[in-house]
Amino acid sequence: MSIDVRPSADAAAYLATDQLIWFGETSDADAEHMRLGLPEDQRFVADAPDGPEDLHSGIYGVRPMEVSLPGGSVVPVAGLTWVGVHPDARRRGVLTAMMTDHLARTRAAGTALSVLHASETGIYGRFGYGTAVLTHQVTLGRGTTFTAPELEEEVARISTHLATMADPGVTERMRACQLALAGDLPGTIVGSPDFYSLLALETPETLRGKEPRRILFARREGEDVGWVGLRREHKWSNARPSGSVTAGLLCAGPAARLALLRRLVDVDLTGSVKLENIGVDDPVHAWVGGPRGTGDLQTWDSTWVRLVDVGAAWSLRHYEDDCDVVVEVADRHAPWNAGRWRLSASSGTGTATRTDAEADVALDVAVLGAGFLGHPVGGRLRAGLVREHRPGAYARLARAMRTLVAPEPSIGF
Ligand SMILES: CC(C)(COP(=O)(O)OP(=O)(O)OC[C@H]1O[C@@H](n2cnc3c(N)ncnc32)[C@H](O)[C@@H]1OP(=O)(O)O)[C@@H](O)C(=O)NCCC(=O)NCCS
Repeated sequence: MSIDVRPSADAAAYLATDQLIWFGETSDADAEHMRLGLPEDQRFVADAPDGPEDLHSGIYGVRPMEVSLPGGSVVPVAGLTWVGVHPDARRRGVLTAMMTDHLARTRAAGTALSVLHASETGIYGRFGYGTAVLTHQVTLGRGTTFTAPELEEEVARISTHLATMADPGVTERMRACQLALAGDLPGTIVGSPDFYSLLALETPETLRGKEPRRILFARREGEDVGWVGLRREHKWSNARPSGSVTAGLLCAGPAARLALLRRLVDVDLTGSVKLENIGVDDPVHAWVGGPRGTGDLQTWDSTWVRLVDVGAAWSLRHYEDDCDVVVEVADRHAPWNAGRWRLSASSGTGTATRTDAEADVALDVAVLGAGFLGHPVGGRLRAGLVREHRPGAYARLARAMRTLVAPEPSIGF
């Protein structure tokens, strides 16, 4: 008997299944978390024939989101989230059934890309997702100097303003600003208005003595030109103030980014700033003179990308180099993508056509996802993750997909 995957008809059972799987503290706010950013018709459940009786065997959800691509277009994506399998139903193919369902539904809806944040790195590669964005977490000391002579004139016209995320109108401003900047910052994920309300949602249980989430806006001539989400934490050490600032998502062009960072390293009663989520090519690295100009630096995978429809996705983005390569694509879970494609790019425009010509390169669809936002994938040949039949063909493909600057990370969704 097969696993039944279908839209959720029972919000309480959906939520209770999630609460069991993620074993966190449960609260009244959980239902509000589910309501915001996860539309009712985008919640799906799986029931295995021998699965638990009171709860579902598995659940998943899709946030309707947009992503900016190399070249600046902003396109719809399926933001896969709330994925979980009941502890008694694991390793019996429930996730596999849900992923197969998700890919078919996404394709049927005409959405070419699915994106996610992975709880564990071993899960999603097999379903055709590739690590498309890396993120850095950087700690900066109070008073860090940022050197950027060519930006100073513009920075002088920018002022910064502190607000509280939950204040009326703030999340609307965050979204509008992020959408306006997305084209210049490929990889930016823009959620629905509700998703921003979710970022600002904090209950007394989750706050527990912390200050509410704040936001620092950068403004030029009365317009928002950037922002950074943050929270300060009080600490006294040997009678000296040594509090910290933790900054989550940062959304700003170069000058506004510099103005925001200068303000962050000058917050009274604090000694350090942790930037939790910046791109690996973020200008901050150059402004402080390299990794040792920071107090600490760590790297993680951020957004994972899956080409749900290779033919449609390939032409959505811009390419910085030309290529013309016949690629044998392996795709176990979206068989409509499998087989040979001529992937070409000329003067920035990409074209994908079906072909019977001999393959120059053979790879898994996850490699195309990993490179889709511009993250370099050239090293996968020597890593033995790609097969090349025509010498140099993979290098041409990887060079065309790569962008000059690494894509922007996103916060977990
Ligand atoms: C991760 C999770 C969803 C997997 O569900 P599942 O129903 O057990 O997965 P499946 O039975 O469909 O497994 C498919 C394959 O993936 C592998 N796999 C599943 N989870 C894995 C993991 N965490 N690490 C490595 N491999 C994993 C399985 O071994 C199986 O491999 P096979 O096809 O070679 O046999 C489940 O363990 C879970 O709910 N974990 C807790 C919540 C979570 O991490 N959710 C993901 C949110 S991003």
